[in-house]
Amino acid sequence: MNYIELVDRNNIPQHIAIIMDGNGRWAQLRGKKRSEGHQAGVVTVRNIVEDCARMGVRYLTLYTFSTENWHRPAAEVAALMTLLFEQIEEEIFMKNNVGLRVIGDTSLLPQNVLERLEACIERTSGNDRMTLVLALSYSAKWEITEAVRTLARKAKAGEIALEDINEQAISQELTTNFMPDPDLLIRTGKEVRLSNFLLWQAAYSELYFTDVLWPEFDNMELHKAVYEYQHRQRRYGLTGEQVTNEENR
Ligand code: IPE
Ligand code: IPE
Ligand code: MG
Repeated sequence: MNYIELVDRNNIPQHIAIIMDGNGRWAQLRGKKRSEGHQAGVVTVRNIVEDCARMGVRYLTLYTFSTENWHRPAAEVAALMTLLFEQIEEEIFMKNNVGLRVIGDTSLLPQNVLERLEACIERTSGNDRMTLVLALSYSAKWEITEAVRTLARKAKAGEIALEDINEQAISQELTTNFMPDPDLLIRTGKEVRLSNFLLWQAAYSELYFTDVLWPEFDNMELHKAVYEYQHRQRRYGLTGEQVTNEENR
C-alpha cells in the first residue's frame, strides 16, 4: 500500500512524539559498532524532521536521550554527546522554517552542547512552520517531580491556594507547557513500552508501535503510522456513538 497517497491531508496530527529506538540493534545486526547505529539514526532524524514539516505537523517531539541513558557505558554516552554537538546546525532549521526547543534536565549536558543548543534555539525562535522539540536528559518522572516541587513551594509561600493545584496547573508546570499534548506517539524498534517518556502528556495519545528499527524508519513508515492514526476513533471516555454524533453536528 502506498501510505503516502492514502494519508488524509486534512487530518494530520498536530503533535507527533517519537521514541527513536533500535539504533544499537541495527548496528549489531550488521556487525557494526553501536555508535555507527546512532550515526545512521541521525540520517533518519533529518529526513523525518523534513517529512513532518512538509506534512504539516506543528510539533515533533523526539526522545533523543533519557535520564536513564546517562547510565550507559561512558564511551557510548560520550559518542552520543559528540554526535549531538556535531548535528546542531541551523541550516536544516532555517531551510525548513523549523524552530528548536529542548525539554529535559539540560544542566547535565556538556557545556559545549548546551551553548550550541541555546544559540540554535535563539536563532530559530522566529521559525514557525514546525517546532522540533528534543527530549534530552529527559524523563517524565523527573519532570513531574519538578512540577510537584514547584507547586508545593508556591503553595507554601502562599502564592497559590491548594485548590489552585489542578490538572491545568500541573500541565502548566511541565516542560511541555508551550505545546498541545501529542496526538500520536510512535515507538520504533520493537519494544512496547514508554520508557519514562511523556507519561502525563500521553494520557490520550494514540500509541503506535513498530518493529522497524529507527535507522530504517522512513517517509513511508511515517505515513503508515499517520494513516493508522487517522483510522482510529478518539473517544476520550465517551461512547463511539456520542463521538460520531458530535462529529456530524
Ligand atoms: C535509541 O537506540 C537511541 C538512544 C537511546 C540514545 P538504542 O541505542 O536504545 O538502540 P537499541 O535499543 O540498543 O537497539
Ligand atoms: C528510550 O530508549 C530512550 C530513547 C529513545 C532516547 P531506551 O533504549 O533507552 O529504552 P529501554 O531501556 O529499552 O526501555
Ligand atoms: Mg533501546
